[in-house]
Amino acid sequence: MDLPASGDIFPAKEAVRMIDAVDLTPPIEVPPISPDAYPENVSDEEHRWLQSEISRLKRERRAYILAHNYAPSDIQDVADAVGDSLYLAQKGADSDADILLEASVLFMNQILAIMKKPHQRVLAPDLGALCSLAAHADVGKIRQWKREHPNGIVISYVNTYLDVKAESDYCCASANAAKVILHVLSHSEPDQPILFLPDVYLGFYAGKLLEQQNQPLERLWLMMGACHVHDRIRPYHIERQRRLYPDAAVVVHPECGCTSACMRQMAQGTTPANMMQFRSTQGMAQFVRETPQKIIIMATEVGNIHPLSKAAPGKTVIPASPEAICAYMKQNTFRKLYLSLRDNVHEIKVDPALAARARLPIERMLSIV
Ligand code: 13P
Ligand code: SF4
Repeated sequence: MDLPASGDIFPAKEAVRMIDAVDLTPPIEVPPISPDAYPENVSDEEHRWLQSEISRLKRERRAYILAHNYAPSDIQDVADAVGDSLYLAQKGADSDADILLEASVLFMNQILAIMKKPHQRVLAPDLGALCSLAAHADVGKIRQWKREHPNGIVISYVNTYLDVKAESDYCCASANAAKVILHVLSHSEPDQPILFLPDVYLGFYAGKLLEQQNQPLERLWLMMGACHVHDRIRPYHIERQRRLYPDAAVVVHPECGCTSACMRQMAQGTTPANMMQFRSTQGMAQFVRETPQKIIIMATEVGNIHPLSKAAPGKTVIPASPEAICAYMKQNTFRKLYLSLRDNVHEIKVDPALAARARLPIERMLSIV
């Protein structure tokens, strides 16, 4: 039998068994990070100049700047909206500005380009800001699964490109994955197959929801894909930090390689629910604010420390793994943000036929919140 590969689709139970047999290294190149992605490597003088030019151009061009929680901190500090993928999609769709300039990654830029108003233009500081997770989603294998399951329902995670969204019935983000899955369960027949893609760890989480609803796990199919940054956050990273900070609460992004182990600990009662939560990058801010614990171990990309520390200034946020750095998000730099506004680059354009098909799943994601 051939070895299972990235992008393959399996019934959920088999996917759980297969996980360690699949090579989930990024199917695309991981670019180098330039030193100026770190604000401390840009002189104060240049920073001040860039800041004032960005504010001037923003007014002149009637631009709205959006930044993901993993974008460099100097970009976050001048942005009009900072948040997770769902929040940025909502804020972009609500804005009337002439230019939507978003420092994130291409799949988020594409959502703005689909939802934008006719007078708007969507810009991104760098076209190399891709996503290893989105690259695992194989559109040919999705079409094949749909042919084999004509009454199947496809739920694609927001980390997918336009062609995959166009094949999907629903789209969800980490912030509303549980709500979208529960919505699908209550609006479908119990024997209707469901394909969740491309994140296998988030797929395990979907499986838990099915079990909690007394739904047969047999109806769930998963694609083998993972984010290389989150996949490498393993249970031992959490354990190591918990030994150093025994009173710390833990907050985990459901894309992490430690997701199923953390869920098991909660289900077995070895970790109480108030000491461990699964949240989107933005949901983490609410948790950090509300938990009485002063130290929080954060299992996601390190850029998220900046918004969490701003959200709860008295708390200390410790990364589960300091090596969890997304090189794609770090293609966005303060200089490139300025150049984007100055030169009207890089404009994100989408194929109108694909965009028309991708719109419904995205609208569903925006409405099920
Ligand atoms: P959020 O929706 O939580 O921002 O996650 C998107 C992402 O790419 C996480 O790696
Ligand atoms: Fe994609 Fe992972 Fe980077 Fe998020 S952290 S944008 S999932 S590569």
